[in-house]
Amino acid sequence: MTSPYGLEGRAAIVTGASRGIGLAVAAALTEAGARVCVTARDPDEVARTAQRLGGVGLAGSVADPAHLWELTQLALRELGRIDVVVNNAATNQPYGPLMDADPDRWREAFTINVEAPLRLVQCAWRAWMSEHGGAVVNVCTEGAGHVGPQVGAYGTSKAALLHLTQQLAGELAPKVRVNSVSPGLVRTEMARFVWEHSEDELGAGLPLGRIGRPEDIARAVTWLASDAAEWITGADLLVDGGTRVRAAHAAARGHAVHERLRTRAPDDRP
Ligand SMILES: NC(=O)c1ccc[n+]([C@@H]2O[C@H](COP(=O)([O-])OP(=O)(O)OC[C@H]3O[C@@H](n4cnc5c(N)ncnc54)[C@H](OP(=O)(O)O)[C@@H]3O)[C@@H](O)[C@H]2O)c1
Repeated sequence: MTSPYGLEGRAAIVTGASRGIGLAVAAALTEAGARVCVTARDPDEVARTAQRLGGVGLAGSVADPAHLWELTQLALRELGRIDVVVNNAATNQPYGPLMDADPDRWREAFTINVEAPLRLVQCAWRAWMSEHGGAVVNVCTEGAGHVGPQVGAYGTSKAALLHLTQQLAGELAPKVRVNSVSPGLVRTEMARFVWEHSEDELGAGLPLGRIGRPEDIARAVTWLASDAAEWITGADLLVDGGTRVRAAHAAARGHAVHERLRTRAPDDRP
């Protein structure tokens, strides 16, 4: 049976695809018929993911422009085309008040969260998409639309990614559609410090009754990448279990996630 997404025979690059949302996206695209080219920094995880999904992979950081170019070349060589790019890898560092932020780490956040998505789209555009077309989906965050405690670098860089999405959508149309998905709180490693020990409580405060699963985001990304969304570009699809509308929800009790951001911190891996 063919998939309703019509991604059979297509090829997709997914960054940050070894776990969490990126892995779910790569798996969903594969299930929808696409072949995937995955990346993350840990070589064993990349090899495992590529093998599991029947795709190809290259370990490296999206902060390295040479890695993005090699990734594009690998996809083209092994998969023969690049129809979809999903910019998913990101950092939530530096975490804390902006007055304490090290400018070098601030710049690194922008390198990973904003510059890398632009560079990868440039690579894919030059290698394939300018001639054959395609679709780009950038993974932003529900938090990009407002401010929050300790997440100034993350939120500012994701707001820039949201703007970049719209700018690229205008510039690359009609050949390439460029959209974003903005997740609310999802049960992954990156957000573990927020949901661990409080998952049920956080979920109960949301209109849809639970925090997100990576698959919730993956379905939205797959749909936007597919021909089912052929007349959609420059859009941001909020997938947040009702986070934005919780003020009108009967079980609303203040901003539970912001309380966690104030009192906890993520692992500080560079
Ligand atoms: N989880 C949430 O609640 C939430 C909410 C809103 C938005 N998001 C967004 O969703 C996306 C995925 O986050 P996640 O929660 O799934 O995180 P995650 O579970 O921590 O996974 C992150 C993935 O990205 C890879 N990665 C990290 N830095 C990288 C780099 N510099 N170069 C290449 N790969 C890198 C990681 O592998 P390696 O460590 O091996 O590199 C891993 O595969 C991010 O854009 C994040 O901002 C998440």
